[in-house]
Amino acid sequence: MTNPGQDQTREFPPDFEWGAATASYQIEGAVTEDGRGPSIWDTYSHTPGRVLNGENGDIAADHYHRWQEDIALMSKLGLTAYRFSFAWPRIQPLGSGPFNPAGIDFYSRLVDGLLEVGIDPVATLYHWDLPQPLEDAGGWPNRDTAYRFEEYAAHVAGRLGDRVKVWTTLNEPWCSAYLGYGSGVHAPGRTDPAAAMTAVHHLNLAHGLGGRAVRDIVGDRSQLSVTLNLHAIRPADPSSADDLDAVRQIEALSNRAFLNPMLDGFYPQDLLEDTAKVTDWSFVRDGDLETIKVPIDVLGVNYYSTGTVRRHVGRGPVVRADGHGASAWSAWIGADDVEFIQQEGPYTAMGWNIAPEALTKLLVGLGDAYPDLPLIITENGAAFHDDVSEDGRVHDAGRVDYLHSHISAVHDAIKAGVDVRGYFVWSLMDNFEWGYGFDRRFGVIRIDYDTLERHWKDSAFWYRELIRTRTIPPVEIAPTLS
Ligand code: FCB
Repeated sequence: MTNPGQDQTREFPPDFEWGAATASYQIEGAVTEDGRGPSIWDTYSHTPGRVLNGENGDIAADHYHRWQEDIALMSKLGLTAYRFSFAWPRIQPLGSGPFNPAGIDFYSRLVDGLLEVGIDPVATLYHWDLPQPLEDAGGWPNRDTAYRFEEYAAHVAGRLGDRVKVWTTLNEPWCSAYLGYGSGVHAPGRTDPAAAMTAVHHLNLAHGLGGRAVRDIVGDRSQLSVTLNLHAIRPADPSSADDLDAVRQIEALSNRAFLNPMLDGFYPQDLLEDTAKVTDWSFVRDGDLETIKVPIDVLGVNYYSTGTVRRHVGRGPVVRADGHGASAWSAWIGADDVEFIQQEGPYTAMGWNIAPEALTKLLVGLGDAYPDLPLIITENGAAFHDDVSEDGRVHDAGRVDYLHSHISAVHDAIKAGVDVRGYFVWSLMDNFEWGYGFDRRFGVIRIDYDTLERHWKDSAFWYRELIRTRTIPPVEIAPTLS
């Protein structure tokens, strides 16, 4: 894949979107400014023992104050699109009741600033920072949260409308439900399997209600979307019926629990059966599935790595190495005898294995299953422990390699006929990586957390070259670009 001759043929269509992604709590800081209320991530990160090194997003990358500088960076990179998220507690501090004009004004200025330099705003309504009062009232296991989301979504769409090119309802509801309420390694940190399954449904419902609210306001002038972290799961032993069945079970929990209701209007029967000991699914009410299946224009796919599973019939809980942080509680509800086994390397600093071919396979599979639904890669990227070299540069060769191989994998999918419309690198800049704090750096732009200065890494120069030429540059040239 690093053969320069071959690289010449790897050209992307002229209208392919090249973006970078971030999320509000991970970059903004300014958590008490201009009327912002607390979110579940403020509470969680300020609870001792929850986040590595006791870190929190109080300052993060200080994007709330430096957004103009950050737009200038995006413009220099040549981005055609920027994916960011709204902090619900900035816009509606209590999660219900009055809206805070200063909160929405911040995003209005950001959107206008992007449009001025020709960058398409791709906005996510919910990237995990639930207003704390809504969690106090029960959080996502409480059905009312979905209606609160609908009201919030309508307000934001009413203010920003078609200035936003793509409206994404939720980012990775898998994480919100199973990590937030199952294994507890994400906010709000609850460990209640039945609550996690209830949260799955209420997040789906929120997507349907919020998506319809946005559509009613923007019509066809903007696109409607949702972003899922679809799991690429492999069997430990492809010839073992038990292991293949473990793959089926994990894919039901991770992928079909969202794809089927959102795109097809039903919950998979095997998912209902696999979780029957935990819940009877009586939280699904008449009409919910019709609501959830709101027509979307494009599906956002986040991809980082793969999982490999094996079934241990008759043993106790064995989930290990699922890549999302240690917990005595499993994120995989009802799958106690499924073991996640260590992947083959190489790995990123998250311990996640690097497997670009699985991205092609995932996209081809989606293209086969939903041929009329365009796809965008809304997140893909890698954490590495970058250092500033003596020459003052950040030679993040591992990240350049990762981006090269994964963007090549996207190109392979397009060549195979899959309708992929864009690619967003995670992330524009180093940021607060949830339970891992600032220890894991995903940015193509480095943040010096002492001074909050931004520095281009080699990967940023390489990505700019890719966007400029619409052709995947060889990795070797990265350190020579400036
Ligand atoms: C995804 C999240 C994103 C970031 C990356 C590394 O699950 O959506 O916020 O943390 O992982």
